[in-house]
Amino acid sequence: MSGGKGKGVSGGGTGGGRALKVKVKTARRRTNSSNRWLERQLNDPYVRRAKAEGLRSRAAYKLIEIDEKHHLLKPGMRVVDLGAAPGGWSQVAVSRTGSSDAGPRIVAIDYLEMDQLPGVIVLEKNFLDDDAPQVLQDALGGHKADLVLSDMAAPTTGHKKTDHLRIMHLCEVAIEFARDVLAPGGAFLAKVFRGGTEHTLLADLKRDFAQVMHVKPAASRQDSAELYVLAKGFRGRAVTLGDDGDLGEVLGDDEDIAVRPDF
Ligand SMILES: C[S@@+](CC[C@H](N)C(=O)[O-])C[C@H]1O[C@@H](n2cnc3c(N)ncnc32)[C@H](O)[C@@H]1O
Repeated sequence: MSGGKGKGVSGGGTGGGRALKVKVKTARRRTNSSNRWLERQLNDPYVRRAKAEGLRSRAAYKLIEIDEKHHLLKPGMRVVDLGAAPGGWSQVAVSRTGSSDAGPRIVAIDYLEMDQLPGVIVLEKNFLDDDAPQVLQDALGGHKADLVLSDMAAPTTGHKKTDHLRIMHLCEVAIEFARDVLAPGGAFLAKVFRGGTEHTLLADLKRDFAQVMHVKPAASRQDSAELYVLAKGFRGRAVTLGDDGDLGEVLGDDEDIAVRPDF
């Protein structure tokens, strides 16, 4: 793993023209599926580019592409990165917010070990632990966050429904956390899987954010069910029903709420 900050976190796309396709010879100890995985990695332009630009993951380009289109990261922002290892998204966040060790503004959490990164407070912890929200808030030094990112994904079981439910659970807990830590106007970006229940989740987010949409960056493999839910313009935690139970009065007009499929 690279401990570097990364040189090339400024642009999306894979660029660089076409490279020769690498074929992987079968080896006795490798299964067919690990051969396929290896071949895909070796031929993946994002993997090559991440290596060349000192980024810790190809996933970094997903955030770069989303940010290029939706302008989430700005200098001076405080960002929470949930499921951060090996640290590609954190590298992008550092580069675009200007966070430094003199006043770190990025807080990253993962239950896997992650190499330290200048400008980032790295917590090795399960986000689903009861005390994780408090530990994260302490790391933010009592400040509100401007952006909560979640690229969390539990290891897949191969059972589609189980995998879907697990990632949706992670996303729901992340939303609950975001409601507590986001400053008004803040944004939330999280990985989900296409598969049905994400629509309930969108409806839930619409209550608290001015704009909610799905995004599928080019760096997210087209054959993968992965997509991201992006919510912008946090209205603030206090969403209470009026005496007559009329949500409309509290939340404002529906025209404020845009749900735009974007994939
Ligand atoms: C796709 S990777 C993140 C890649 C990262 N965005 C990057 O660019 O380097 C998903 C991460 O989520 C983490 N994760 C999954 N469930 C978690 C949990 N409950 N608590 C903390 N981390 C979790 C995994 O350990 C894994 O490192």
